[in-house]
Amino acid sequence: MQTRPTLPFNRRRWLATATASLAPLAWPALARPVAASSLQTRRIPSSGEAVPVIGLGSWITFNVGNDPQARDACAEVVRAFFAAGGRVIDSSPMYGSSQPVIGHALARLGQPATLFSAEKVWVGDASRGPAQMEASRAFWGVPRFDLMQVHNLLAWEEHLPRLIEMKAAGRLRYVGISTSEGRRHAELERIMRTQRIDFVQLTHNLLDREAEQRLLPLAQERGIAVLVNRPFRQGALLDQLARHPLPGWAGELGCDSWAQVALKFVVSHPGVTCAIPATRQVAHLRQNMGAALGPLPDAALRLRMARDVAAL
Ligand SMILES: NC(=O)c1ccc[n+]([C@@H]2O[C@H](COP(=O)([O-])OP(=O)(O)OC[C@H]3O[C@@H](n4cnc5c(N)ncnc54)[C@H](OP(=O)(O)O)[C@@H]3O)[C@@H](O)[C@H]2O)c1
Repeated sequence: MQTRPTLPFNRRRWLATATASLAPLAWPALARPVAASSLQTRRIPSSGEAVPVIGLGSWITFNVGNDPQARDACAEVVRAFFAAGGRVIDSSPMYGSSQPVIGHALARLGQPATLFSAEKVWVGDASRGPAQMEASRAFWGVPRFDLMQVHNLLAWEEHLPRLIEMKAAGRLRYVGISTSEGRRHAELERIMRTQRIDFVQLTHNLLDREAEQRLLPLAQERGIAVLVNRPFRQGALLDQLARHPLPGWAGELGCDSWAQVALKFVVSHPGVTCAIPATRQVAHLRQNMGAALGPLPDAALRLRMARDVAAL
């Protein structure tokens, strides 16, 4: 990975530099201004384009229906996301009203030019794929999607050739496939070995680490970017961890919350391009974006983090 930000963690070097470039880490999370230019980024191997390591998911959190207040509240989360330097937003036709809610937010923000739109095609009858993707595009109000993923490998044999054609015609920028919670990893591995895809999306977090065995190393080997879903196990991981004080190493990483610990764990794997935590709360969004600042754990500290958390 070209701009791999993972540092072998050296407490002395960290303390020596903290007062200069990383001084804002001492601020309380909610008040901390996030400078877009200082966010950690990773490059998409197939193009070299850099994206910030923290993105934004939309499943459940943005499925708020037509209620104007709830839609506006989601728009404020999206506003805070761009203000913090975020780019990658992920959605799917499976996520109820999330697509029009994202479209509402983007329209209010004047269609931010830095958006990296990640969508999915999710229909068993692949002949309906084009109509579904066009409906999604209209909901977002974008000229084209940056990334189109086959959701949960559904009918991938039919969808993928079409997505590759669309990319060749300039109607998409990247092609990918998603799964979650460890489902169909063997088949995903086969696809990664044989198909021309730019991205995979999979689950990886402090407790669900199966992807570290084969898929993340394979993504590095094959030059495939990785989006990570469910970094908080849909919130359950943070609920569980909230009962415990932060370990000493959390402060050394500049983390003042379990959310930042969980995200730094995920994005410090050299095979990961971007984690896409979902939230409906501006305060949580800012906290999550803070995980793209400051040092990341090296391999030894990652192992310790996972072991310590598993033992709690
Ligand atoms: N197969 C697939 O393609 C697939 C499957 C699953 C997910 N995804 C994608 O991945 C995204 C992320 O996964 P996910 O939505 O399942 O779960 P997640 O990101 O692991 O967790 C989201 C939950 O965490 C809470 N949360 C977020 N930030 C927090 C913070 N700083 N402190 C405390 N709580 C916090 C949120 O509640 P609040 O609103 O209260 O913050 C929300 O309930 C999805 O939204 C979706 O875009 C894709």
